[in-house]
Amino acid sequence: MPGEGPKNAALMLIGEGPGFNEDQQGRPFVGASGKFLDELIASAGYRRADVFIANVVKCRPPENRDPTPDEIDACRPFLDRQIELINPAVVVTLGRFSMARWFPGAKISAIHGKARKIEGRTIVPMFHPAAALHQPALRDAIIADFEALPALIAAIAPERKTPPPEPPEQLRLF
Ligand code: URA
Repeated sequence: MPGEGPKNAALMLIGEGPGFNEDQQGRPFVGASGKFLDELIASAGYRRADVFIANVVKCRPPENRDPTPDEIDACRPFLDRQIELINPAVVVTLGRFSMARWFPGAKISAIHGKARKIEGRTIVPMFHPAAALHQPALRDAIIADFEALPALIAAIAPERKTPPPEPPEQLRLF
């Protein structure tokens, strides 16, 4: 499943991998957690078309099991290239697998919402929307973390803070 979004997105969201619906449609976050993610994106003042959405693994792990370290390694060059091409000012990691790329061994409950500059890019770890969907405490946390994004982007990349009036052209990239 490719990632999708505009080529100069200020914000890139990185999930875990396709679930059933994403696998069927070939698009990221189109199921229940995608609906919640759309609300979160809106709460940060963006449209889905303004952000690039990628995943750690590009194929659906059978039965929605966790991706294995081998699978994550096999997909890593694709994710590296997506990040390099889009060059987002801010990356939001959704869930522990994308968090582990930049914060190995960290606990998401301890570091969610805390922006860190790593190798010239700002990375903000957040809960996975699927986990937050039905757990009120996590839900409040991820909403608050998304609401803090515009100020963060304004501070790092003021020229890219305001989304263009027309939704930008969408790329689909492996
Ligand atoms: N969950 C993910 O982590 N990624 C998707 O694209 C969809 C659901």
